[in-house]
Amino acid sequence: MRRKIAAGNWKMNGTGADIAMLTHLAQRHSDPSVDILICPPATLIERAARAVEGSSIRIGGQDCHAAESGAHTGDIAAPMLRDAGAGAVIVGHSERRHDHRETDGIVRAKAEAALTSGLATIICVGETLAEREAGTTLDVIGGQMASSLPDTLDGSATMLAYEPIWAIGTGRVPDAAQIAEVHAFMRNRLRERFGQETAEAMRLLYGGSVKGANAAEIFAIPNVDGALVGGASLAADDFSPIIAAL
Ligand code: G3P
Repeated sequence: MRRKIAAGNWKMNGTGADIAMLTHLAQRHSDPSVDILICPPATLIERAARAVEGSSIRIGGQDCHAAESGAHTGDIAAPMLRDAGAGAVIVGHSERRHDHRETDGIVRAKAEAALTSGLATIICVGETLAEREAGTTLDVIGGQMASSLPDTLDGSATMLAYEPIWAIGTGRVPDAAQIAEVHAFMRNRLRERFGQETAEAMRLLYGGSVKGANAAEIFAIPNVDGALVGGASLAADDFSPIIAAL
């Protein structure tokens, strides 16, 4: 049985003043049967981890380098995230693929590094609007999965997030049938490549304009094990209803 998860990606938002939000969240949600993950900017990981100590909220990074250490100015290695108090990391977000020209190969190397360091790893995939309209969504997702996922992985430590690029921060959400189609496709592909046990253990998240108002409908879709939330994870009042809908 896969545990449901609400993961918040703060992106490049948040300063020390926002740590209080985590304290509020921890006070409101103590259901140990669901997972709550917040991925603040790297500058806040240590403070965030301290703020949620003893609660069921976990803290994650938004990216990591594929190397363990070295001459990579400005980058952060997976073991450093662990050291700062992170238990998870997002890799291959479309904003990193776009802004930093991260290829599937780079994403895969980062995922390998993250998993090796013992971080739960969320690997993101998703199509552009042009690809959706051209009818190539499943080809795109299949290709990204083939090249971004490590060959060996622990299904219980790896999550796959379907984030259609056209739904991110736009208020546009695919309809339930579209989300169901992609998630069923992803589960099948995982089964073909990694076998039944790993495929069933892996959690598949949906991301893109998830709000309190649409969360319950999205979580009811087969093969959706939770959400990766951007804007609505920044305030406790917005994120709480999403957690409650799990
Ligand atoms: O990683 C989460 C994200 O890209 C979705 O953002 O603001 O549409 O929830 P948002």
